[in-house]
Amino acid sequence: MAAFAHVAIDGPAGSGKTTVARALSRRLGILHLDTGAMYRALALAALEGGVPVDDEAAILRLARAKPIDVALDERAPEGFRVRIGEREVGVDLYRNEVSTIVSVVSAYSGVREIMVERQRAIAEGGPVVMAGRDIGTVVMPDAPVKIFLTASLEARVARRLAELAQQGVVVEPGELRAQMAERDHLDVNRAASPLRPAPGSMTIDSTDLSVEQVVERIAQAVEAAAAR
Ligand code: DC
Repeated sequence: MAAFAHVAIDGPAGSGKTTVARALSRRLGILHLDTGAMYRALALAALEGGVPVDDEAAILRLARAKPIDVALDERAPEGFRVRIGEREVGVDLYRNEVSTIVSVVSAYSGVREIMVERQRAIAEGGPVVMAGRDIGTVVMPDAPVKIFLTASLEARVARRLAELAQQGVVVEPGELRAQMAERDHLDVNRAASPLRPAPGSMTIDSTDLSVEQVVERIAQAVEAAAAR
């Protein structure tokens, strides 16, 4: 398939990029990767292995010793599978303990190098909808369609609360809001690949849009790119 089917979607937590990327990949009939899952897998491995997250050298050793492997697989519930070493991990990636430390782990430049190399190899393998924080800026800067998906903090907190409630997880809204604001701050202000709209990207504010509406806009951008 042509290069126009490479779509980069970046944005803050709760902007809807994971849901949108998954729906878009189905609509386009191409594979999908949520790169946040790779950083989450490393954070989970650190938690389970008792590796302190603020010890950069130890986290880097862990990333090298226990490679995070992702395989794109349309039949998997998320559209891809993540392995830490030999073990496949799923819902554990979205545990609250993981969410609270993942921004620290993902800020280490050595960790990012390892992940970005793997993500680029996946992109070279064929068309993909890839979602994350640095996909349009670093991983696939030449992707013909680059989207920066945003939404107000209030909308993002409300979505995450609904998502967690569906999983039977009850959290205090104020606490979740503070946690998401803190994560935004870390992602935007870190030295290595901070969250930014990529040059040439299209910003979509999803605060008042449905998933279908966002997917429709991106699908139109893909069509326009294909026609160029
Ligand atoms: O999208 P998410 O909430 O699952 O992402 C988890 C963390 O990983 C988030 O704090 C930022 C980081 N991340 C990143 O730095 N680069 C990416 N491409 C994807 C996620």
